[in-house]
Amino acid sequence: MAKHVPNLQVALDHSDLKGAVSAAVSVGKEVDVIEAGTVCLLQVGSELVEVLRSLFPDKIIVADTKCADAGGTVAKNNASRGADWMTCICCATIPTMAAARKAIEEVRGDRGEVQIELYGDWTYEQAQQWLDAGISQAIYHQSRDALLAGETWGEKDLNKVRKLIEMGFRVSVTGGLSVETLKLFEGVDVFTFIAGRGITEAADPAAAARAFKDEIRRIWG
Ligand code: 5RP
Ligand code: MG
Repeated sequence: MAKHVPNLQVALDHSDLKGAVSAAVSVGKEVDVIEAGTVCLLQVGSELVEVLRSLFPDKIIVADTKCADAGGTVAKNNASRGADWMTCICCATIPTMAAARKAIEEVRGDRGEVQIELYGDWTYEQAQQWLDAGISQAIYHQSRDALLAGETWGEKDLNKVRKLIEMGFRVSVTGGLSVETLKLFEGVDVFTFIAGRGITEAADPAAAARAFKDEIRRIWG
């Protein structure tokens, strides 16, 4: 089987539509996946998804809804505006996740997928239930607030990521990533690296995205 080279996803967590769209225009061509970030979705709603879809008709677009309830409705609203993937928070119930999956697949067909966002407490038993519900993408997240409070990436995170991959998940990794952080994951079959501020707040966001891609290719290519 061909070796997987991790994707690069940019997270647009701007507080205004204009900022998110202008960042998307700068870096959209450099990345594999474009994320309508939670911060911006909460500010402007799924209009952000619609604008991104019109700018990038063929890219995978993620709505980082971190959906906790009403999975079917949230999925339908975002998928009908162009989102291929959406996130559910790990503490949502299985019926919420299953409803989101059904709705996103109804609108986006085979492209439609739900990703489980891992924050705080969760168990491998729950993770098995997500797989049993037909959901095989998980996002291992170091929360922005935990990082600000002094948390760092380390072996404890890598072990959880490895275990989820062994279980059968495609695991994306995110939270304060920089080009320098990527080498920590060497030898781990990460599905996608998701970077927000490390790209969008750089002096030259397109160059920053290229630097992420170059480092990914250097390590996994
Ligand atoms: C926060 C998110 C962010 O989109 C994700 O963490 C990437 O942003 P950054 O690289 O700036 O931390 O989902 O909940
Ligand atoms: Mg996000």
